[in-house]
Amino acid sequence: MTLALPRRTTVAAVASLALAALLAPAVPASAAPSTAPSSAAVLAAPDIPVANVKAHLAQLQSIATANGGNRAHGRAGYKASVDYVKAKLDAAGFTTTLQTFTSGGSTGYNLIADWPGGDASQVLMTGAHLDSVTAGPGINDNGSGSAAILETALAVSRAGYQPSKHLRFAWWGAEELGMVGSTYYVNHLATADRAKITGYLNFDMIGSPNPGYFVYDDDPTIEKTFKDYYAGISIPTEIETEGDGRSDHAPFKNAGIPVGGLFSGADYIKTAAQAQKWGGTSGLAFDRCYHASCDTSANINDTALDRNSDAIAYAVWGLSAATTPPPSGTVFENTADVAVPDNGAAVTSSVSVTGRTGNAPATLKASVDIKHTYRGDLVVDLIAPDGSAYRLKNSSSSDSAANVIATYTVNASSEAANGTWKLRVQDVAAQDTGYIDSWKLTF
Ligand code: TRP
Ligand code: ZN
Ligand code: CA
Repeated sequence: MTLALPRRTTVAAVASLALAALLAPAVPASAAPSTAPSSAAVLAAPDIPVANVKAHLAQLQSIATANGGNRAHGRAGYKASVDYVKAKLDAAGFTTTLQTFTSGGSTGYNLIADWPGGDASQVLMTGAHLDSVTAGPGINDNGSGSAAILETALAVSRAGYQPSKHLRFAWWGAEELGMVGSTYYVNHLATADRAKITGYLNFDMIGSPNPGYFVYDDDPTIEKTFKDYYAGISIPTEIETEGDGRSDHAPFKNAGIPVGGLFSGADYIKTAAQAQKWGGTSGLAFDRCYHASCDTSANINDTALDRNSDAIAYAVWGLSAATTPPPSGTVFENTADVAVPDNGAAVTSSVSVTGRTGNAPATLKASVDIKHTYRGDLVVDLIAPDGSAYRLKNSSSSDSAANVIATYTVNASSEAANGTWKLRVQDVAAQDTGYIDSWKLTF
């Protein structure tokens, strides 16, 4: 939901730049433009329409109402919830799998949805428990997380998003009986498949009516991603402390998988300091309907649901995206003249390359402009930051033309891109002289 007119554009721009900053720390997030997003924003996560998330919650409420008032493990309302979510995912192009298990004599279901594509050896998982307690319809706990990750998955489909990682979403059964479904899933993963999961993001209660904004204090990269999102919209967060390990991330964490998540509070009481920074009512629980019959579709704070839904998309996009390919054609140049002594010592001219990731390209272009009255006198090398020399030109007593104005293609793929590169020029024959006019590297 858009709270103020420029919010959507601004958040997209801030979000994309904050992600870019993760990948290339030289780009300050404060440089976020307030104008229309640039090409960097193409990689940015979409705004998740909170109205769509609420529409899913309305369906889950109807399902509970039609099935004895709850969506608990072993009850008809649970399976109907699974069917609702599965149909949406199937229609959006996900590959869905229903995993069954038994708990307390009843069949339980985990719904797993894979988005085709991405690197199968790098899986980013996002999950939420879909079951409620028997006392009520469980709309905040945990229709909120279930609906938000469903709408994020649908946004992946709408965007035709092709992340470098493989995306998998999961809706867990029987969390309220002790994380039974998620524990079953982790325990039944082959060791090799477990190793492919690069991260698990958990969302359990993210629309609490008197909300706080809590970030799980687990994997630092995941935690930072959520904090960056909230910093971008200037909402303070706190570390989640209301019972670490009380939701479906616990079995993943125990299996050594990096985890993280968001939480808007359960039955803990909001302090005065928290009400000061987040609004709402101090002295009252974050969710006074926690595990109660009043956890209905009225038990949702739309703003918290909206922000957390957008934060989920931000993290799913940011933690699965291809490393931003460095823009090609970036030029690093030195235009200062350097005299080349006649038949003398080699001289150099440097360029400092910064802000690149990884190695230099196999087609690094070195363009030189050397003024000289007899270019056959000159030996020219490109020196990589580690000192490796690449011969660009040999001397030749028969090459009597003037000047060396040329672009050389160098396979520099074994060299780190960042650092000080040098053009080294030596005049090895007496009489004619000249100078380095300018030179540049094009990455
Ligand atoms: N479903 C959880 C439960 O019933 C809700 C919860 C309480 C929670 N504390 C939490 C979820 C902390 C995540 C983090 O216990
Ligand atoms: Zn829960
Ligand atoms: Ca000479």
